[in-house]
Amino acid sequence: MGSSSPSHPETLSWIGDLTGHVQMVEQTLLPTEHVQLEVRTVPAMVDAIRRLAVRGAPAIGVAAGYGVVLGAAAAAREGSNVREAASAAIEALWVSRPTAVNLFWALDRMRGILAATENLEGEALAERLLEEALAIHESDRDTCRRIGAHGAPLLEDGATVLTHCNAGALATGGMGTALAPIYTAHAQGKRVDVFADETRPLLQGARITCWELQQAGVPVTLITDGMAARVMAEGRIQAVIVGSDRITRGGDVCNKIGTFGVALAARHHGVPFHVAAPLSTVDTELLEGKDIPIEERDPDEVGHGFGRRTAPEGVRIYNPAFDVTPRDLVTSIITEVGVIERPDVAGMEQALREGGRL
Ligand code: MRU
Repeated sequence: MGSSSPSHPETLSWIGDLTGHVQMVEQTLLPTEHVQLEVRTVPAMVDAIRRLAVRGAPAIGVAAGYGVVLGAAAAAREGSNVREAASAAIEALWVSRPTAVNLFWALDRMRGILAATENLEGEALAERLLEEALAIHESDRDTCRRIGAHGAPLLEDGATVLTHCNAGALATGGMGTALAPIYTAHAQGKRVDVFADETRPLLQGARITCWELQQAGVPVTLITDGMAARVMAEGRIQAVIVGSDRITRGGDVCNKIGTFGVALAARHHGVPFHVAAPLSTVDTELLEGKDIPIEERDPDEVGHGFGRRTAPEGVRIYNPAFDVTPRDLVTSIITEVGVIERPDVAGMEQALREGGRL
């Protein structure tokens, strides 16, 4: 459902009516295979989120909303209790991944519908949940467009932008967050070039960012993560733009492992470090980045990536999936309500109020 831009892949969508299912790009197979995965049950959605078939904070939120509908719709068909099935789906999806706060934001919205519809049961309740999940998806599309519009003026004609991980269309329900200003500037006729960090260990930069930028006709150069400081020292980079999985109310930014190092290198070289994210990525309960739960993933992702052992058997491996960039390294946070320069509590709270989140 919904419109797909000719140049951006549709990351996921709800197909059909209440008897329908979710269709999503199977992102683990990119870039060599571009196949669609059909997700029809709550456990299948939990699995898709956990193994990164769908990934990127906003897309995880959209997927979670649809996941709740899958549980509710199945109960409606079977004549069992839809409210209980939806609550059980929320619980199951809640523990699928720990860091991207958009997951919990979306599930809280679905829970809000349950709380506000005590008079609805059965199919009518499931229909109302589907409506909400579609609204979450639609608002993400619009949010991405707004982030693109607010961020594009930060890029001059001829600028080269470095990005880390994938915060493009495939990480959202729309055109992306970090890549949105790039797509928008490109559409406005500006010449924008991109350097993409490959993003160890799962190579979202190489596999996904390079793939979707190529599809959109935006020039991109792939580098390994360790080359980012070097290309900045060579004067090739005019701005860094990354996405985020969770931003605190104080402005600290959690994103894919390696982002903090990119921010340090950017500060050293006087390159602006921008973060592009929807306000649904802000954890209004947390002030300090140190309190953000960081997902630790399977050591095999580091020592046995993509089907081949790359480290000796038995070596100790540590695999945190995210890190936190302190707010003093952040030049600006580009949101759907505007650009928060030099983020601090006051700037964050003003944006949150404008976006109706406070
Ligand atoms: O582990 P992933 O692939 O879900 O990590 C994704 C990122 O770190 C993105 O940069 C972040 O979610 C922002 S997506 C718009």
